[in-house]
Amino acid sequence: MSDGQQTISSERSVQRSRDLAERARRLVPGASHTGSKSPTQFVQGVSPTHIERAEGSRLWDVDGNEYVDCNAALGPILLGHNYPAVTDAVTEQLEDGTMYTMEHPLHLDVAEKIVDMVPCAEMVKFAKSGNDVTTLAAKLARAYTGRDVVATQGYHGWPDIWMSNNDSMSAGIPDPVSEYTASFEYNDIESVEQIFEDNPDDVAAIVTTPVNLEPPEDDFLEEVRELADREDALLVFDEVLTGFRFAPGGAQEYFDVTPDLTCFAKAMANGYSIAALAGKREFMEVIDHNDFFYSMTYAGDAVPLAAADATLSVLQEEPVHEHIFDIGEQLRDGYNELAADLGLEDVTEATGYPPRFSIGFADEIATAAPTDDTDIDRLLRSLFMQEAHKNGVLYTGSHIPTYSHSESDVEATLAGYRGALETVAEALENGDVGSYLEGDLVGATLRERTGDD
Ligand SMILES: Cc1ncc(COP(=O)(O)O)c(C=O)c1O
Repeated sequence: MSDGQQTISSERSVQRSRDLAERARRLVPGASHTGSKSPTQFVQGVSPTHIERAEGSRLWDVDGNEYVDCNAALGPILLGHNYPAVTDAVTEQLEDGTMYTMEHPLHLDVAEKIVDMVPCAEMVKFAKSGNDVTTLAAKLARAYTGRDVVATQGYHGWPDIWMSNNDSMSAGIPDPVSEYTASFEYNDIESVEQIFEDNPDDVAAIVTTPVNLEPPEDDFLEEVRELADREDALLVFDEVLTGFRFAPGGAQEYFDVTPDLTCFAKAMANGYSIAALAGKREFMEVIDHNDFFYSMTYAGDAVPLAAADATLSVLQEEPVHEHIFDIGEQLRDGYNELAADLGLEDVTEATGYPPRFSIGFADEIATAAPTDDTDIDRLLRSLFMQEAHKNGVLYTGSHIPTYSHSESDVEATLAGYRGALETVAEALENGDVGSYLEGDLVGATLRERTGDD
């Protein structure tokens, strides 16, 4: 792990990143496999587009530039990159093979750990990614209740069921599919009740992220729990982002509201590909009914199971969550103090919970608009990102600290952010933010496009 000292070279280059991005544009539609990793999400020409290696809280791009990692690979890294206990478990497992004609016993060890840790978990079924388990949860709820409609809020993945009623992302999905998905607003219990009124006796489940950047208000989680019970629908928490991160038992433990089913993926194996649907026995047993089908060749892959087993053991034995909350709080509050120090408190703010917060920019600052058709918040985010990347902090918006982040990482990050905010302040004062940008404006984020935060 690094000692937190940043070496900012005046000869910083991202030429190899640029070359790889060009190659990727020719070979790979969208140039990446995750929307949020697309080169368009960064300041092309200044930001790296490809990372070569990572250790603890640090990353190195293909040009050898070092960064403090800010968002843990979009969530999967919980303990830190190449965390020794996980790497050792994976290395040992690799020597015994990866996939077999029958299951490896590790799947029972990991399932038992999840049952021990997670309030709603009585049975567990594995998969590879968040998409798999959110979609399985919805199908299971429909099979159990004999109803068709899923009431939902938040991002749950790319399958038809989740994207059918998002007009800007529904190409390739037959129109009728959208009839079976109904959207509500987080923290607006009336918008959930309305879906039950509009679809009498036909709502199978409420599927929600338990928390976003904003906290649950007016007992929202307790209210959806009660509503689901009253209407004989299932309550599903999508804990793909919050699972094993807010508490050993996830956000359901942190907020003390127990769903019927819950979805895990990111963080459960510190970066290895595995997901789990967990829930109450009465519902989970539906997966075993003759007329229900779920099967996945790689769901029993022993390597990510070994990684999950090691990761969950560390969670059970060490103060991972205390550390993550402490580091996250120092970063979030430290950023807001910096902004206030530089008179930018109306321009930018870090919001959210310490395990996942985001730095955003105001969308209305009349004096600084460079052209009539450029959003000022996107321009400021681009300029801030450019400067943060040049200062050795891999800012992407969202912040997800890991167990490997140290006090010196907090210092290095806030030092990089101070420099970036000073440039933002200067650009705003000069009233021409656009002229400070050395690369392309960042594109809309996935969460902006899905209306999520
Ligand atoms: C809350 C939530 N659910 C589901 C998903 C989809 O997970 P995956 O990309 O692993 O399929 C994501 C991914 O960002 C997510 O944040």
